[in-house]
Amino acid sequence: MGHYSKHRISVCTTCRHKGHDCRPGRVLIDRLRRAIDCAGDSVGADFEISGVACMAGCDRPCTVAYYGSCKATYLFGDIDPDDHIDDLIAFARQYAAPGDGWCSSVQRPKGLADKTLARVPAAIFHTVADDGLPQ
Ligand code: FES
Repeated sequence: MGHYSKHRISVCTTCRHKGHDCRPGRVLIDRLRRAIDCAGDSVGADFEISGVACMAGCDRPCTVAYYGSCKATYLFGDIDPDDHIDDLIAFARQYAAPGDGWCSSVQRPKGLADKTLARVPAAIFHTVADDGLPQ
C-alpha cells in the first residue's frame, strides 16, 4: 500500500450473530472499506481497516474499535453491516478531525449513541521526571 494511515478501525471477525452461525465481520470490513474509499474526502487515506479475532465484547456482536496515536480509543458493539456503515463513516470523519478524539454519546452519530462499550482516553505519557521533580 505504501501510505501511512494515522488511525485504525478494527473489526471483530469472530463475532457471531446471536442465534446464528454466521460471522458478519468480514462483510462488515468489505463494506466499510468500500464506503470509506468512496466517502468523497480524504478520510479513507487516514484509516487502515483490519480484522481482529475477538475484542472481548462477544455479547454485543459485531464489535468495532477505533484507535490512533494520541486519540481516545472506542469500542462499539451491536454493529450490523446492513445498518451502521453510514454511522461508522460519519464517526471516522469526526474521529479524524484534529484533537484527541474525545466526545460524548450525543456528539457521536445517532446510530452509535447506545453502542459504545468503551471509551478510553488517549495515552499521552507524562512522567514525574518530565516535570523535573524528585522521583
Ligand atoms: S468474538 Fe467478537 S468480540 Fe469476541
